[in-house]
Amino acid sequence: MSGLFPRPRAVVAPGAVHVPEWLSPERQRELAAACREWARGPVPLRHTVLPGGGVMSVQTVCLGWHWQPYRYSLTADDVNGARVAEFPGWLADLGREALMEAYGDESPARTYAPDTALINFYDGAARMGMHQDKEERSGAPVVSLSIGDTCVFRFGNTENRGKPYTDVELASGDLFVFGGPSRFAFHGVPKVYPRTAGPATGMGRGRINLTLRETGLGTPDADWRQRRSREFPKSSR
Ligand code: SIN
Ligand code: MN
Repeated sequence: MSGLFPRPRAVVAPGAVHVPEWLSPERQRELAAACREWARGPVPLRHTVLPGGGVMSVQTVCLGWHWQPYRYSLTADDVNGARVAEFPGWLADLGREALMEAYGDESPARTYAPDTALINFYDGAARMGMHQDKEERSGAPVVSLSIGDTCVFRFGNTENRGKPYTDVELASGDLFVFGGPSRFAFHGVPKVYPRTAGPATGMGRGRINLTLRETGLGTPDADWRQRRSREFPKSSR
């Protein structure tokens, strides 16, 4: 919801750009509705179980590739074994538009080809500890879109989980891009402010964050077709 004072865009660190209220309320509602559909399956929204037995407080659903700690796979073997929903072309277009907006330069945007999205749902109590997004085999930027309640997004350094870091409030519709020297910076969400989103955002309660990424793992279907043609050579089909 737009506040009394406009929040300025900010370069938080080299390659890390915050663009407040980038998504219009209509786009926020459309994205929130799409997320509600994806949350139903084929791999449903769920709390990810960590290798040590802990459970993440956010609930997650993935597109394109399934993320589990700490790798990507085609099928969600830690949930129900299904393939995740496809990463839609319109979301890749939105990712390219976001890069163009953040960096004001066509060249990184032209070649950006995100093939996975991690969609996290935060209720009032959910948090995310400081971590790096480093399961990708690509140095392409991460595009982060937020809908619903405002949170504190802690953006740190590339060396460790501690200081120096900058706390940024991410509100509904905000875009945050981290690439270049900031691509592997530690980041986390220490706090969500419950009931801070207006109804125009399409969220009754809670916060959604989508991060779009390039996995660098190739095209799932091309790989699958290749494997299949190795297993079933043309002559035997
Ligand atoms: C993430 O680090 O993947 C999510 C960040 C956020 O919720 O803003
Ligand atoms: Mn992350």
